[in-house]
Amino acid sequence: MRNPIIGGNWKMNTDKASAVALARGVLSAAAASPGPEVVVFPPFPYLLPVKEALSHPTIGGRTVAVGAQDVYHADRGAFTGEVSPLMLRDCGCTWALVGHSERRHILHEGDDNINLKLRSALHAGLSVILCVGESLHQRDVGETNHVNEKQTRLGLREVKAEEIDRVVIAYEPVWAIGTGKTATPDDAQDAHEHIRRVVADIFGRDAAERIRIQYGGSMNPSNAAELMAMPDIDGGLIGGASLKPEDFGKIIAAAAAAARVLG
Ligand code: PGA
Repeated sequence: MRNPIIGGNWKMNTDKASAVALARGVLSAAAASPGPEVVVFPPFPYLLPVKEALSHPTIGGRTVAVGAQDVYHADRGAFTGEVSPLMLRDCGCTWALVGHSERRHILHEGDDNINLKLRSALHAGLSVILCVGESLHQRDVGETNHVNEKQTRLGLREVKAEEIDRVVIAYEPVWAIGTGKTATPDDAQDAHEHIRRVVADIFGRDAAERIRIQYGGSMNPSNAAELMAMPDIDGGLIGGASLKPEDFGKIIAAAAAAARVLG
């Protein structure tokens, strides 16, 4: 059975003190619900203090991993303003997010660029969450599966079979991110099932059965349980609600409960 993974994408929020306080809150919340893997994505300047806060003797042996919200596709060199996968490793990160819709739409990142980032992060030994998802217009004209398939295939191009187990896919319908609108559990399940079929087509059935596909887009304590009760929804990538340890903790608890039922 797939272990659910709950990610907290803090986006461009917090300051140093509140990031450290939030990290401590997440650690306690995670300790209260053993099982699901938990990872937080603070802004770059706070990776080190957050890692430090999470490295203190953990409550009940629980660990919360740290990841970066983005990564560049070269290890070093003349790339002003960028941060390499090796630097992230050096700061104690074990995860990177790539292809978040805010980067696709606000910063105009394309699938080729996202694929380069994903491969170089994997090559450096990081695990990666690849975000995919359709816009409202694409959903309205019936292109949801087509868009997710394209972003998944292009994002995973040339990923090696031995690397695919370090990839998680986050299905995040663009129209649901930060809007308070959520995909219905059935719609989300359909999208996840299709993405899993695409992974099976590229990497085979076993890899597709193992890969975790999270839902993201206004997941909160009141909708998390019904989303994660769906057979192909293996956790969540949480924005707004990840800034409140109590809400984030309830989502981790919902993931733990769903895993018990599905497992
Ligand atoms: P949201 O963000 O939970 O605030 O909708 C999710 C995300 O962008 O990953």
